Amino acid sequence: MEQNKKVFGIAALYDSPNAIIKAAKTVTDKGYKNFDVHSPYPVHGMDKAMKLPPSKLGFVTLAFGLSGAAIALLFMYWTMTIDYPMIIGGKPFFSLPAFIPVTFELTVLLATLSTVIGMVTFFFYFPNNSHPIHDTNYMKSVSIDKFGLCIEADDEKFNEEEINKLFTDLGAIKIEKIFFPDKLNVKILEPKFIGLLLIVAAFVSVSTYLHLNKVLYLVPFNWMMDQGRLDVQSSSELFGDKFGMRNPVKGTVARGFMPYEYQGVNEPTSPLSNPYLPTKENLSLGEKKYNSFCSPCHGNLGDGDSRLRGQFPLPPSLHSSKSRDWLDGNLYHVIVNGQNVMPSYSSQLSREERWAIVNYIRVLQRAKNASEADIQEIKKEPVTNVSE
Ligand code: HEC
Repeated sequence: MEQNKKVFGIAALYDSPNAIIKAAKTVTDKGYKNFDVHSPYPVHGMDKAMKLPPSKLGFVTLAFGLSGAAIALLFMYWTMTIDYPMIIGGKPFFSLPAFIPVTFELTVLLATLSTVIGMVTFFFYFPNNSHPIHDTNYMKSVSIDKFGLCIEADDEKFNEEEINKLFTDLGAIKIEKIFFPDKLNVKILEPKFIGLLLIVAAFVSVSTYLHLNKVLYLVPFNWMMDQGRLDVQSSSELFGDKFGMRNPVKGTVARGFMPYEYQGVNEPTSPLSNPYLPTKENLSLGEKKYNSFCSPCHGNLGDGDSRLRGQFPLPPSLHSSKSRDWLDGNLYHVIVNGQNVMPSYSSQLSREERWAIVNYIRVLQRAKNASEADIQEIKKEPVTNVSE
């Protein structure tokens, strides 16, 4: 049976640290390279006796650490100066001191992860966790109280008889030949182990789900359903005047609304200009609004022939030289502000409607006081529909 198996190596047991150091030294001096020493605890001086070179793992750490730093710096350079350049706190776009923490973190992250993963996979051949010397009497002894040395079969100088002789000369208490297992035995991939992992995964998932969704469950934001709300026009104890519905704070200006700057003043202190041209639409708007809001007192044509005669003081004619010589802004001012007994019409009429009325009053005034030029102009236009 044993003859068919492939030899992994020959191992010898010694019973003192001094003996194993001496053995390791001699084996190294004889030129063996593929051998390893196993001891129940670290033996001082062993690295030197075995002439072990420093581990290559450090290069993996260095390479990944440097790439971590480079990735962090390049990424921040790209985001902060190319993709979305933004001045933060007056610093330049590429501000190295501010980038140090992230760079440091990424360096450490990649270095440590690559060290652990590299060590486990490349140096210890993960996931193959079964080594030929694992299930041997040799391993049982060296993990309790003996010190062992194993020369592997792939060493250039491997020769059974020579090694047996060397081990005996060095005072070995036991020599064991170690074989590879019949087939590659990756324990992690065994169905039993995978089954165990699946059971653990299922258990963790179910218990986490039950814990978060049943045991610790809280209705999200349920306080929004029963918040203290005031019904329209109800009173409130919160305010001194007990009014639930509040007025805007004095001086509040609505969006897009320009407050009238000569509110409450006798006359506009500087001339206001009419921002609306007397277009057809504007004039018909002015006519409509004038007839609704002004004509009851001022008359349809502005003569002051009030329909409220006897109920309200008669207004002056809008054809007086005073009204005609007034600037547009003065007429506008009377609409917004009122004048003596005439009330303000600012809440009934929008800004555009007020200016449209001013334009319409100008039309009425010009119609009553037409100049010679105005009449000539009308004559020039062909008069149609007269006969009908
Ligand atoms: C309820 C009646 C009434 C209404 C409606 C009314 N006014 Fe008057 N208006 C008067 C009275 C009365 C006066 C004179 C006030 C005074 O004694 O200075 C007056 C004065 C004026 C004056 C100043 C005339 C002057 O010579 O001093 C103008 C301009 C004017 N109104 C425009 C309008 C416009 C435009 C409207 C429509 C938005 C309007 N009024 C609506 C009653 C009214």
